[in-house]
Amino acid sequence: MAYTVFKLTDYSETALENVAAECVRACRDEAGAVRNDAELKTFRDRWIGRKNGILTQINDLWLKAAPKDAKREVGRRVNDVKANVEDILQKAEDIQLERATGTPLVRERVDISLPGVHRPIGAEHPVIKTTNEMVRVFQKLGYSVADGPVVETDYYNFEALNFPPNHPARDTQDTLFIAGQQGKPQRERLLLRTHTSPVQIRTMEKMRPPIRIVIPGTVHRNDPPDASHSPMFHQIEGLAVDTNITFGDLKGTLDHAMKEFFGSSVKTSFRPSFFPFTEPSAEMFVSCFICGGSGKRGADPCRPCKQTGWIEILGCGMVDPNVFEFVKDNGYDPKKVSGFAFGMGADRIALLKYGVDDLQLFFQGDVRFLQQFG
Ligand code: PHE
Repeated sequence: MAYTVFKLTDYSETALENVAAECVRACRDEAGAVRNDAELKTFRDRWIGRKNGILTQINDLWLKAAPKDAKREVGRRVNDVKANVEDILQKAEDIQLERATGTPLVRERVDISLPGVHRPIGAEHPVIKTTNEMVRVFQKLGYSVADGPVVETDYYNFEALNFPPNHPARDTQDTLFIAGQQGKPQRERLLLRTHTSPVQIRTMEKMRPPIRIVIPGTVHRNDPPDASHSPMFHQIEGLAVDTNITFGDLKGTLDHAMKEFFGSSVKTSFRPSFFPFTEPSAEMFVSCFICGGSGKRGADPCRPCKQTGWIEILGCGMVDPNVFEFVKDNGYDPKKVSGFAFGMGADRIALLKYGVDDLQLFFQGDVRFLQQFG
């Protein structure tokens, strides 16, 4: 027999419990019998129809008719039944929709008790971190940060840095050239910059002396990747130009910077070298901050400094007057100004600093490796 709503006579807790349960059970049974859209509509109208739906009847016959002192309890039961009926109806609609469309339905519900989505904030890449720390050391000395393009012209990468066309010094740079540039005059041909030094020229073209800049950036060379080489790596360049800048300023500045970066106990050592754009040129070493300069770790040989007690960190020198000739018109008269420049490999410094033994780990993007720096 179809379910019908009767007026209540017994307002005891058990009686209320029973009528409520009976009603919900009836609703569930009827929902289970729904087979198509038409039956679903009949079911919906019968239970939640505004005018004479069962929920409305319950409201009238149970709640409105209840004596004052039973109203509270009856109200609670009625709300309970309503919530159940709505839930059953919702499910019946879902099932019918699935039946009609043939695809399972996933209904989104907000469960406010679930924990929020945890998004890890990530970490600075060790090379970027090292770069930023080094740049900061020079910023504290009053240097500002400059940058320039990675795809560079022959003019900025070589010619204006005093590498004449066809000069053998170009061979040391293992340059990656952009294809299809042969139709252009040599100085306009594009290549991937092999060092950050072109930004020295670009900055001097824009800013008159005195200048003090650091230039962090990506560079490329045709080196096959291995534990200590990569066709893409990072440099940090420095340039100071003013009147009366001497090699003493170069040494003092770099010695201070190394003590700031590696710790006050490191020593620096300068050994003669050659770069076309500096004269004189030097390579700067720092005393090995791993073995303290002894070349030994306990009884074992110190590997990072190859037992020498010294680690090569950068190339440097006094800006060659020939370089100033290229930017002479912007106030860089080689007879009036002098300057120093330096360039270091950020990746190598990061390797040493974090005791990483394979450069490739920096560029493979393996989260397990990178997470260790978070
Ligand atoms: N650009 C040089 C290199 O990549 C390093 C350097 C920079 C040397 C500035 C002297 C002055 O090897």
